[in-house]
Amino acid sequence: MAVRKVVTLGNPILRQRAQIVPKITKAEQKLIDDMFETMEEYEGVGLAAPQVAVPKRIFVAQWEGERYAIVNPKIERQSDEMVIGTEGCLSIPRVQADVNRYLKIRVRGLDRNGRDIVLEPEGWLARIFQHEIDHLDGILIIDRSDELFWVTTEVDENGKERTRLVPTTKSAIIAAFQKRKIPARR
Ligand code: NI
Repeated sequence: MAVRKVVTLGNPILRQRAQIVPKITKAEQKLIDDMFETMEEYEGVGLAAPQVAVPKRIFVAQWEGERYAIVNPKIERQSDEMVIGTEGCLSIPRVQADVNRYLKIRVRGLDRNGRDIVLEPEGWLARIFQHEIDHLDGILIIDRSDELFWVTTEVDENGKERTRLVPTTKSAIIAAFQKRKIPARR
């Protein structure tokens, strides 16, 4: 296994529609293993193949001690109810977005061994899945939210680090990543 590099906003691969995987071979299994390792290394809860510059319809996730790898995921059903939650993305570091997602979905796809799987995640896991499936269609959190923030850290008068959220816009974020002028974390 190997940690792969996570590409960031501005890389055109993040805006492409990823390709269906016609057959799961050793290459896809290796990719999935690497994606798990990469997700751990970056301390993420989900990762889609385009984020490691592979335009294939595959994502991995981990939540509450469970790991998931889904190939060719398709949302078959969704709840009427939606919920707003705050999301980050490994490809848009230092940005947070409040995003509206379906509370519950049904997802069909293939597992690492090519077997059919159907999952019905709810709540945060459903949110992670929707975020990752969006990546496979070239959609990012900045497209789904008007409540966008830079996450910055400042040091208060007692020398303690405090996280501060600075409201921003989609175009400001895109411009910052283009110029590689992302507010420093510390
Ligand atoms: Ni993401």
